[in-house]
Amino acid sequence: MSRLIVVSNRVSAPKDPAAGSAGGLAMALSAALRKYEGLWFGWSGETVEHFTGELNIEDRAGVAVATVDLEPQDVDEYYNGYANKTLWPLFHHRIDLTAYERSYGEGYERTNRRFAEVLQPLLQPDDVIWIHDYHMIPMARDLRRLGVKNRIGFFLHTPWPARQLLVTLPHHRRLVESMFDFDLLGFQTREWLGLFQRYVEVEAGGKVRADGRVEAFGRSVQTGAFPIGIDVDGFLAARDSPLGRRTYDRMSASAAFRSMIVGVDRLDYSKGLEQRLLGYEQFLEDNPQLRSEVFLLQVTPISRDEVDTYQDMRVRLEALAGRVNGAYADMDWQPIRYLNRTFRRDQLAGIYRAAKAGLVTPLRDGMNLVAKEYVAAQDPEDPGVLILSRFAGAAEQMGEALLVNPFSREELSEAIQKALTMPREERIRKWKALMKVVRDTDVARWRDDYVQALMAASQSKEGSH
Ligand code: G6P
Repeated sequence: MSRLIVVSNRVSAPKDPAAGSAGGLAMALSAALRKYEGLWFGWSGETVEHFTGELNIEDRAGVAVATVDLEPQDVDEYYNGYANKTLWPLFHHRIDLTAYERSYGEGYERTNRRFAEVLQPLLQPDDVIWIHDYHMIPMARDLRRLGVKNRIGFFLHTPWPARQLLVTLPHHRRLVESMFDFDLLGFQTREWLGLFQRYVEVEAGGKVRADGRVEAFGRSVQTGAFPIGIDVDGFLAARDSPLGRRTYDRMSASAAFRSMIVGVDRLDYSKGLEQRLLGYEQFLEDNPQLRSEVFLLQVTPISRDEVDTYQDMRVRLEALAGRVNGAYADMDWQPIRYLNRTFRRDQLAGIYRAAKAGLVTPLRDGMNLVAKEYVAAQDPEDPGVLILSRFAGAAEQMGEALLVNPFSREELSEAIQKALTMPREERIRKWKALMKVVRDTDVARWRDDYVQALMAASQSKEGSH
């Protein structure tokens, strides 16, 4: 049996899976790695003065993990720079925030080459390599240059941008051309897949075949949509664990008969947090009779805090939360509880279950698993309502949610009002339809579909490298 090699910038294999803090993706990939006796390779998150390529090898609960330290300049140019100041905003439709600096592109290419050089000696001929996300787009090309003939797949967790935006990136063709060194390109949704294919047709004069194989640059690559899901059983077990239940009780008691609305997002401009708070403020304004009957719990762990756009946004969000609270709070009620911290998975599950509405309103998002977790956590007899941005990848599958345009504070206000007053039968009907999707497309299905497609894609490409 072939080994599976997972490659990602951040290696999230949990040290202690029982601790309950790991996400579904980390658990699913860890389970696959145990099954295929594989290896998870990526950046250690640490820096070293001069790059040595020395590997840190450890066993994390039966999963072999190999990481490498990077130089401060790599972290600046590759991680903070090209990955998070160039590709991330561009892929999330924010060309106003996108930095187009040559040094970032050079650092990105150098660091990808370094990853390839360190990984190559670890590979065996039968290994199947699965590379994740925008940090590592050119890595297949670098591996091929080192003579690697193995099957290599790529999965993009973020959206793929519209062609009109992608062409603002200097050397966009070079980046896309490097993707043809993979055997399979996976996207979260048909929409992102379609945008990629359209780029190839228009900018590279390529062809898209009916089976998803895309031809351009004198080569071809298989493409497909593989919507990621959550570990449903694991999440339900977390919800029903002692801490999950205790958190639910604690939140219910703390709500004191008020309806809790919940939002959980990394601090990121793509999540639409400012627009969400403005929409919620509009709701308070529009519904004086409901005003003191609700509160919003917004859980927002700090992210990428070395990047200035994130620092700026943090300040703006704090001011906004403070302003709304100052304007509307009463002596025994505060409309927004804003928290910059993380919670364990079991606690989150308890929080979601206690919330009457889940506000998942990104301006652009590859998929968004909070939407799926919120649904999974609900009480089937008395479920809460999911309010979901139509610009999240999840909206392609979750049409039974209350779909909103997150840029419109009026739409947000109306959706909150509708969610909080929705009759129980309607809530149950919607929840059942959503829960079926969440169950049918869970993370194990995503993983297995992808790996199977990668095996099949490489067969039809045999001999083409
Ligand atoms: C998104 C990306 C991931 C990334 C995560 C956290 O979900 O798709 O690749 O790991 O954000 O971001 P960070 O920069 O902290 O790794």
